[in-house]
Amino acid sequence: MKYDIKNISLAKKGKLRIEWAMNNMPVLNLIRKRFEKEKPLKNTRVACCLHVTTETAALALTLKSAGANISICASNPLSTQDDVAASLVKDYGIPTFSIKGEDNKTYYKHILSALESKPEITMDDGADLVSVLHKKDYGFMPMGGTEETTTGVIRLKAMANDGVLKYPVIAVNDALTKHMFDNRYGTGQSTIDGIIRATNKLIAGTNFVVCGYGWCGRGVAMRAKGMSANVIICEVDPLRAIEASMDGFMVMSLSKAAKIGDIFVTTTGDVSVIRREHFLAMKDGAILANSGHFNVEIDIPELKKLSVKTRIIRDFVEEFTLKSKKRIYILGEGRLINLAAAEGHPAQVMDMSFANQALSAEYIRRHHGELDNQVYPVPKDLDERIAFLKLRSMGITIDKLTERQKKYLSSWQEGT
Ligand code: ADE
Repeated sequence: MKYDIKNISLAKKGKLRIEWAMNNMPVLNLIRKRFEKEKPLKNTRVACCLHVTTETAALALTLKSAGANISICASNPLSTQDDVAASLVKDYGIPTFSIKGEDNKTYYKHILSALESKPEITMDDGADLVSVLHKKDYGFMPMGGTEETTTGVIRLKAMANDGVLKYPVIAVNDALTKHMFDNRYGTGQSTIDGIIRATNKLIAGTNFVVCGYGWCGRGVAMRAKGMSANVIICEVDPLRAIEASMDGFMVMSLSKAAKIGDIFVTTTGDVSVIRREHFLAMKDGAILANSGHFNVEIDIPELKKLSVKTRIIRDFVEEFTLKSKKRIYILGEGRLINLAAAEGHPAQVMDMSFANQALSAEYIRRHHGELDNQVYPVPKDLDERIAFLKLRSMGITIDKLTERQKKYLSSWQEGT
């Protein structure tokens, strides 16, 4: 069959898919071309703890073209695309330590392998590299790091507040060109994609419960609504709850939603969001997935205690049967479903996220001497440059303020 590419090697499949992703990452491609000429990371050792996907490969090739020596490990045991890891090693000679489905011990062994290069820059998604580096003395300390995700930034800010952070880190997540698009449209689409690939369930007409109405929750809710689900939001922040209501969603406590939900998605970044009392209230057949960084949002150990039987019924779908014979389904071990059962955010949004990573790494190389051991935002001019380039790559031109308008906006006198 023409479309059957089972017979090509894993690395070859990965190489083709990396090419496909790069076709959709115009901003990163521009940066890569400049890096090829200017070599701003020449001989800089960079360790990346990221989801090993086609988009991450595009970032890795960008850093390599800048002259960096990089090593990669996974930032989640279930998010690696094995064909990409194979291609990175075989086709591009980039040491990559990750296997989809690796156990926790192997996951941390791989982090240590990536750190063997004694990196001068760390690039994290969830702050595991930073956290391992702060647990004991490895005889070196990076000049700086970058952090990709909300959960990682929260961990790093807690470390900085406690005065224990030992090197400066740039919070890539906080760039507008990152979280407004990656967290919202990326998580929105890829989470629904993961749930559908795992279950093949119809979303239309379901009671679809989203826990957390941050950028990720908003994206998931928006896309579920677009597929005609009855979307229910559970949120602890009053402002966000009002926002969810005025965005047209039903808002209620999880104890109420638990009784009527068909599909539940957690996007809070907090622990034990769906727990014993909720499992007990749920309908037979409820489906639970997580899209937050860590697998702590659904209390799976507690669900196990309540269960008399468990079995894997489809790829990434585990059935838990309770004493009452009620069945509850957990997708992808409660790990980020968009990367466990699907391919993560599409390249078009990772383009901006990873443009921020690449430019932040360049910034650290140039400016690390001026930075304290704190968490820094991506410099505003980098964020704005990425927005400008993205818009241009989308073929969109926008209006400019006239001189008269600029003057009006900067004056305090009343308009006439
Ligand atoms: N995080 C979410 N989606 C991703 C992707 N496609 N690649 C790398 N990290 C991601």
